[in-house]
Amino acid sequence: MKLVAEWADLSQDEVELLKDLGNLSRDVATSMVENVIGGMTYPFSIATNFRINSKDYLIPMVIEEPSVIAAASNAAKMMREGAGIIAKASEQLMIGQVHLVKVSNPYVKAGIVIERKNEILEYANQQGVLVKHGGGARDLSVRVIEGTPIGNVLIVHLVVDVKDAMGANAVNTIVEAVAPLLEKMTGGEARLRILSNYAVYRLVRAWGKVCAEELGGGEVAKGIYEASVLAELDPFRAVTHNKGIMNGVIAVALATAQDHRAIEAGAHAYASRSGSYKPLSIWRLDEGGELYGYLEMPLQVGVVGGATRVHPVARIALKILGVKTAKELAEVMAAVGLAQNLAALRALVVEGIQKGHMKLHAKNLAIMAGATGDLIDKVANEMIKAGKIRFDYAVELVEKLRMQQ
Ligand code: MEV
Repeated sequence: MKLVAEWADLSQDEVELLKDLGNLSRDVATSMVENVIGGMTYPFSIATNFRINSKDYLIPMVIEEPSVIAAASNAAKMMREGAGIIAKASEQLMIGQVHLVKVSNPYVKAGIVIERKNEILEYANQQGVLVKHGGGARDLSVRVIEGTPIGNVLIVHLVVDVKDAMGANAVNTIVEAVAPLLEKMTGGEARLRILSNYAVYRLVRAWGKVCAEELGGGEVAKGIYEASVLAELDPFRAVTHNKGIMNGVIAVALATAQDHRAIEAGAHAYASRSGSYKPLSIWRLDEGGELYGYLEMPLQVGVVGGATRVHPVARIALKILGVKTAKELAEVMAAVGLAQNLAALRALVVEGIQKGHMKLHAKNLAIMAGATGDLIDKVANEMIKAGKIRFDYAVELVEKLRMQQ
């Protein structure tokens, strides 16, 4: 900290602020990552109104972007009827990869590996603690790529049921252990031995409906359907459409200390699986004018091990959610993603996204300009009224309104 403070010319106040670890103890912080000099707090919020698979949930969300939590809560209210949003996760199957190079006659070797599949799976299942928890290696497949710049490559995929863990450690342990066995069988040399974040066997699907009146009328429902079609046609729009979904998914991931980079990487790869980038959700109208949304994406999340268990606030988030399994957490996250998507599309169709954003943006500016308490709303409202949502104007208003208080 001393070096950084000197390097960046930090004031004593800045050092004190940065040093504050918030709700992490020093021991926990330094056990999580390296070179810790301080902490950074994000707001921890609750999205309301969620009914998923007939069960009510309070949803912890950690995000820096205004409007997301309010939007999710609003959409969840519209989709509450009956069982609410329905979400179903597949088995929690991850892929572990071993890349072997210098393999002569790779198709022959691929055959040998397939033939000895049971032996390999048995060996894999002697590693780590997965089997004790009901998981383990379930299947194996082999891919051959001939004549690459580095010669023939044989890629072995182990499909591993990781149960309630995110699974990176479990899968990596297995592939590292199995690699020497595969080298012997193929005569090749193992290079990369690691999980794939392209978790195509660890999918979750969520769907729900909302009636046109809830949305503000048939025109709005139609507008959302059209917005879906535009995302299906246009990858540039699909990326933004999916970004809206990830607003919800990642906010829950952060609250529960998931590996959100893994989730993002897998989701966007899955969106491209057809060869062009597509939306992770679609919206359709039925004859009665009801709008149906369907979302499908891979989610690699865990409720045991890793930061989920180490970070005390992540544990509290899981307690608030009341989820006990990785499957249920994935279902909740997919439902939040779907609701978030509906809210974004509705806002785009009805009034454009900026109006709601601007209110919160104005509040942020007011705070940055030094407003506290009641003054925050007063300054924000003045800025909106004047159509001047700018920092310099916020400073001017704070000074003016403070004098009047
Ligand atoms: C903003 O964070 C997310 C949106 O852009 C998503 C969308 O356009 O669908 C509003």
